[in-house]
Amino acid sequence: PRSILFSRHGESLYNQLGLLGGDSSLSPNGAKYARALPFLVSKIMGDHKLTVWTSTLNRTIETASYLPYKKIQFKALDEINAGLCDGLTYSQVKQKFPEEYVTRNQNKFEYRYRGGESYRDVVLRLEPIIMELERQQNIMIVSHQAVLRCIYAYFLEINSEELPYIKIPLHTVMKLTWTAYGCEAQMYSLDI
Ligand code: F6P
Repeated sequence: PRSILFSRHGESLYNQLGLLGGDSSLSPNGAKYARALPFLVSKIMGDHKLTVWTSTLNRTIETASYLPYKKIQFKALDEINAGLCDGLTYSQVKQKFPEEYVTRNQNKFEYRYRGGESYRDVVLRLEPIIMELERQQNIMIVSHQAVLRCIYAYFLEINSEELPYIKIPLHTVMKLTWTAYGCEAQMYSLDI
């Protein structure tokens, strides 16, 4: 059966500090994940050859760097643009933009960051990627939390209210497989 692999990038320096967005490199833990990833992927896929799709941000490119496959970068796979909140922590967002913080919590899917994007915007920009994925075999996507929530929700038919809260853990490869009954998800976590 057809299957697709997804992973978030390994832990980044910004993740360690709890900062949104940015274009930081991997932390030492994240780099460990990147080095372990080829072994995990070959355990999951055997010796099937894959094509790896990353975003254009350092943390996904670094995460994929040891995978011995062809790689393609897509801007459409970049993380949700947090606009004026880029580089802040959630508590700084709450302090600086209290009303925005409340609005986002009321409707996380529709909330558009000032100067940035909403989850709905991300879903729209992912449309060509999803169309292409429907036709492809043996793809691994290395991207970001918000983007992977959107892709996962599309294939698992999760509604837009729940979409922004889907758990996409770090240091985990998710495998989607199409069966006669629909799409199934399996998770393979590395303890790093
Ligand atoms: O914190 C990592 C991160 O990828 C941020 O760059 C991004 O803004 C956030 O996660 C998306 O998650 P949420 O929509 O839950 O804030």
